[in-house]
Parts: sequence; structure tokens; C-alpha cells
Amino acid sequence: MLSIGVDIGGTKIAAGVVDESGEIVATTTRSTPATDTALIEAAVADAVAELRADHEVVGVGVGAAGFVGADRRTVNFAANLAWRQHPLAEEIERLTGLPVVVENDANAAGWAEYRFGAATEAANMLMITVGTGLGGAIVLDGRLVRGSGGFAGEIAHVTAVPDGQWCGCGRRGCLEQYTAGTALVRTAKRRAGTGDPLMSPLLEAVGGDRRQIDGPLITRLAQQGDPGSVELIAEIGTWLGAGAASVSSLLDPEVIVVGGGVAAAGDLLLEPAREAYSANLTARTHRTIAPFVLAEMGNRAGIVGAADLAR
Ligand code: BGC
Ligand code: NA
Ligand code: ZN
Repeated sequence: MLSIGVDIGGTKIAAGVVDESGEIVATTTRSTPATDTALIEAAVADAVAELRADHEVVGVGVGAAGFVGADRRTVNFAANLAWRQHPLAEEIERLTGLPVVVENDANAAGWAEYRFGAATEAANMLMITVGTGLGGAIVLDGRLVRGSGGFAGEIAHVTAVPDGQWCGCGRRGCLEQYTAGTALVRTAKRRAGTGDPLMSPLLEAVGGDRRQIDGPLITRLAQQGDPGSVELIAEIGTWLGAGAASVSSLLDPEVIVVGGGVAAAGDLLLEPAREAYSANLTARTHRTIAPFVLAEMGNRAGIVGAADLAR
């Protein structure tokens, strides 16, 4: 039985036909139309039509970066996108004629890692996607935790700093403002603007125009050993570890899987996260400290998880 998984990202819509063992048998992509939700749906439908031409599928799973209702049909709110009480499943069903299930993007990716990737051995896991935003997925006793209204797992909006940075969700001090791609780039640009000498290699790489500094550049320079870029990523990692520690007091995961674009930095991100995690973990000398591992499914996780949840 085949199903289609769709991952609606900030820059790209990735779709694939997935079989029951989590293998992707065909893929296609579209670029994400800026903020017009109708154009996003049209692009999704177009990708689905292309894939369906060669494969018989039973339904479509869609991963969306927002607060998805418990009915798995409506995006109630998105901190970084224009969706407000938006009937996403209905719209895509209307355009494709196939049954559609919508899931939070990080939940979809986490489900894929739990079923087929880095956390297949664990019954209790926390997945954190460090991308443009910060995503969370919780699996407890083998079940994806969705909460009473579908809002569970929103690690992005756990308070990290009382009265801190404003967040796209309308509150201040959310963890996403300290550990995600946007936070990484914001800090780099700000520091580059102060004449901080540690930022000069980054500035040179963009020809002196600090507005052009982006996440992949910081990661690349960090991997080449640039101390300023290493420090920027380590700062994100430290917030990630401290945030995960506080969430672990509540959830007690066995393993913490880290994915998303910023995870491409590997141990440059994970080592500081591990350190901050164990330093901040309650009763740390009397418990097993959950390992931080990299997601195994990379950018395929969203597609595979959404397709699996649609079955
Ligand atoms: C949103 C989440 C989403 C995450 C990653 C956050 O800002 O609140 O719903 O999963 O970004 O895209
Ligand atoms: Na989530
Ligand atoms: Zn927030």
C-alpha cells in the first residue's frame, strides 16, 4: 500500500510516494509560493498529481509548520506562516480527490525517526528539529503525543527567558528565539554589525553585506574551523541543551533526536547541547542521561512520517 507524504517547508515543498516500510519510491519538489495559502495548496496538488500519474496511492499526509488541530485537518495557527484556523486538509482534498491527513511538520519528522530512523529502539523519545523554526515531537510509550487540541510538542514556545525576545507566536522569551536558524542568523548579523572581529570571516564571505549572512554559510565556515562561526553554533547548541533538559523534567525521554537544517553542523551543535543538557538536568547524578543523536532520515523524514501517518 502506497501513500504520498508532503513536507511544506519555508522554501520548498517536497513530496514523495512512500511504501509501508518507509522507503520512498518517487519524489518531486516545488518551490513554496511566498505567503499565499491558495498558491501553496495548488503547488501541493500539482506535486501530488505528478506522483499519482505513475503510482496508485491510498491517501496523502501533509506535514505543516504550525499548530495542527486534533482532527488533523486544520492548521489553527502558525508562528511563521499565514495560516489561521485554516482548513488545509479540506482544501487539498478538494484539489486532489484523495483523503488527506495533516500533521505538524516536526511530529511527522519525529514519527519517521521513531518508526524507521534514529529512534527505532526507543519507546520514549524527544525529537527536536532545529530549522528556521524549532520543532518538537514527543513519542511516549510508543505513541505520538498530540495533546487535547493537537498543541503538544511545541518546544519552540517553551519559555527560555522571561520577558526576552519577541516571538512570532505573540509572546516573549520563547526557546525558538534562542535556538533555531532565525536566532543563529539574527545573532550573527547583529554581532557583525558591531564590528566584532570574530565575525570578520563571515562578513568577508558575503562581501561585507551582513544582510546576506545565512545559516548554511555559518555552518560551512564553522566546519572549516572559523572560531566565530563555531561560537555562534555552540551558542545555539547550549540553548538547545538547556531547553531539552527542562523539557526532560516533564517527559523523561530515552533519547533526544536532533534534526532540521542546523543539525547539518553535527557535533558542533550537539556537543555544546550535550554539555548544557547534563549540566541542567535535574537529579543528573542519579539517572541515565539521554544521548543526543543526529536524525538519520535527513530531509526525507517529513515526507516519510507524513505518508506513514496518512495510512
Ligand atoms: C512552530 C511549530 C513548528 C516549528 C518547526 C515552530 O515555530 O510553532 O509548529 O513545528 O516551528 O517548523
Ligand atoms: Na510538534
Ligand atoms: Zn513563541
